[in-house]
Amino acid sequence: MTPVKVAIIGFGTIGSGVAKLLLEHGDRISRRAGRPVELVRIVDKDLVRPRNVSVPRQLLTDDIDSVIKDPSISIAVELIGGLEPARSIVLSLLEHGKDVVTANKALLAEHGPELFEAARRLGRSIAFEASVAGGIPIIAAIGESLTANEILSIHAILNGTSNYILTQMEEQGQEYAAALAEAQRLGYAEANPAMDVSGADAAQKLAILAQLAFGAEVNWKEIPRVGIDTVQADDMRYATELGYHIKLLAVAERVDGELELHVSPTLVKKGTPLGEVRGAYNAIRIVGDAVGRVFFHGLGAGQMPTASAVVADIIDTAVGRAAITFRTLRLWSNDGPKVRLRNP
Ligand code: HSE
Repeated sequence: MTPVKVAIIGFGTIGSGVAKLLLEHGDRISRRAGRPVELVRIVDKDLVRPRNVSVPRQLLTDDIDSVIKDPSISIAVELIGGLEPARSIVLSLLEHGKDVVTANKALLAEHGPELFEAARRLGRSIAFEASVAGGIPIIAAIGESLTANEILSIHAILNGTSNYILTQMEEQGQEYAAALAEAQRLGYAEANPAMDVSGADAAQKLAILAQLAFGAEVNWKEIPRVGIDTVQADDMRYATELGYHIKLLAVAERVDGELELHVSPTLVKKGTPLGEVRGAYNAIRIVGDAVGRVFFHGLGAGQMPTASAVVADIIDTAVGRAAITFRTLRLWSNDGPKVRLRNP
């Protein structure tokens, strides 16, 4: 069987997790892909920083062109994060005939239409399971398994850092700043944690889910949002006394034929599935017209949960499933309901 050759671009926390899975469980992954999956290159600017995976020295390079211009590499995994140079690199990879796997929600929320259009024109695929809710297979669920449904609503906890901070404040009485520092130490927070606590990260993920579920074109920056940086210790105490938790909820809901979107700290009743989501966990409640209510729960941030989603995408791409799914996704198709943006 011809091996499928894979390159990782970006050797940070998630890149190291993906390398770890590919190198330590290569047999399992190759079996699932039906042919050998070979990690042949890891690109990063910094090759000396210590990582928690040991990789053969010859895999490492700081030369991105050695991946872009190598015709034997068919799958490139973009884990640089941010907008540029990630956008230009993904476009070059597609133009050089590579299928792309990415965990980069900021890139997709901002440049998704351009990148998806380029991939379609060039007959390539972009797989992005890890871009929303880390290890929870929510892209596959909405894009494939629930595709018979008209989705009526999505209520979701999509930012692990915010949920971790809210949980620490509520259960341990920890100060906001100390809880945030801990989330950063545990590797949940974005490079700029303001993205997490302002609700921006959740809004980017909501934009991707809403477009996938409703086919509506959404600019994440226009989604009304309030972050958890507004939540005071008193709010927390009163919520608890009244029988509620405070959760940063991302909501997309059909209301009178329009799609309403917002992200905000919300009172969620104790004892309900969304209310009881603790720590860096994410959860998504979806209501579909045929399936009714379904609920997903799992780690939405962190090295190995996110690597789990990335490697699943690599296998799907190697098998050819990603290409089929990609062709049928409604993402950025702009055939959805009118979007209503109102403050929560
Ligand atoms: N900073 C993000 C979070 C990482 O806390 O959820 C996963 O996207």
